[in-house]
Amino acid sequence: MLKPLIISSLVLQHNVVLAPLAGITNLPFRLICRQEGAALAFTEMVSVNGLVREGVKTLALLKSSAADRPLGIQLFGDKPADLAEAARMVEGYGDLLDINMGCPVRKVVGTGAGSALLQEPIKIAAIIRAVRAATTLPLTIKIRSGWHCGDDVFQEVGHIAQSEGCDAITLHPRSRSLMFSGQADWTHLAQLKSALSIPVLGSGDLFTPDDCLRMMKETACDGIMIARGALGNPWIFRQVKELERSGCYTSVTPVERAGAIERHLDLFIGEMGEAVAIREIKKHIGWYARGFAGASDIRRAANSARTVDEITLLIGRIRSIPTSESHGSDAFAA
Ligand SMILES: Cc1cc2nc3c(=O)[nH]c(=O)nc-3n(C[C@H](O)[C@H](O)[C@H](O)COP(=O)(O)O)c2cc1C
Repeated sequence: MLKPLIISSLVLQHNVVLAPLAGITNLPFRLICRQEGAALAFTEMVSVNGLVREGVKTLALLKSSAADRPLGIQLFGDKPADLAEAARMVEGYGDLLDINMGCPVRKVVGTGAGSALLQEPIKIAAIIRAVRAATTLPLTIKIRSGWHCGDDVFQEVGHIAQSEGCDAITLHPRSRSLMFSGQADWTHLAQLKSALSIPVLGSGDLFTPDDCLRMMKETACDGIMIARGALGNPWIFRQVKELERSGCYTSVTPVERAGAIERHLDLFIGEMGEAVAIREIKKHIGWYARGFAGASDIRRAANSARTVDEITLLIGRIRSIPTSESHGSDAFAA
């Protein structure tokens, strides 16, 4: 099931990738996930309005490095001409361009972007046509099943994407109205896969390595995007590979977990300076601590930390937790 994934001119080593996550998939987190085997990572979604109006300031969101490739850039916006202009601006910053047509949050749909576009298939066609003409990068879109439960448009949008020149499509099979509640309906993925000839990637409820292989098996999708399942758990990328190869996978020890937090903190400090690094790593420690017997204590200590030294002490505490008291990353789904 794990195999190279070809999206137009982009050849990925395998088909397990890190999903775009606003506020999370910045350069440090992408690098941490790549170290564990993510074949592709995405920027946080970038506002086309910001790019077109503020230029350089918004381009800073696309900061990357040699180790951070291949990189997908995700844009959100609703005007074909603006999206096309933004596509030209970011051409040299990544290896693939994705348009967000799934974001459910009010701030985004209120501007007509994200999943609001699912109510306007004609506009979707115009957007893809304009962006396709503006860039030579591989072009993809990421959608939800539809706006309301039951009013599914994913097949219609999939056909539009394919005929307007998209090179792949990702489906998170929930409607906008569900936000993140309920269960993703993977049968939509199977239906989309059988309807299209371009690659179809699946997203939704991938919390364990078993979930990842099951999605590929049940839907025959060409690749998967791990999202919430990677929070505090970048090892999921290597565990999927291990599971497929050997039928089982190794749990993560407290020493490995502490090492990852340390690297993550160093990356944050290098990119953002100590003050922002402390704020950011606290959020991630909450996720890294999941599954430990003393997780709430660790979270409390992280929240009250004010200095890098205090975070370093906490990392030392995590490192010294006996392996028998940690359940490994598979406890995430609980
Ligand atoms: C905090 C958060 C931020 C997200 N940001 C984005 C985003 O910027 N662009 C996007 O296409 N999807 C975004 N998503 C959706 C995820 O990429 C993914 O499709 C969704 O979480 C379903 O996968 P999961 O159930 O495995 O988490 C976000 C999800 C979460 C939870």
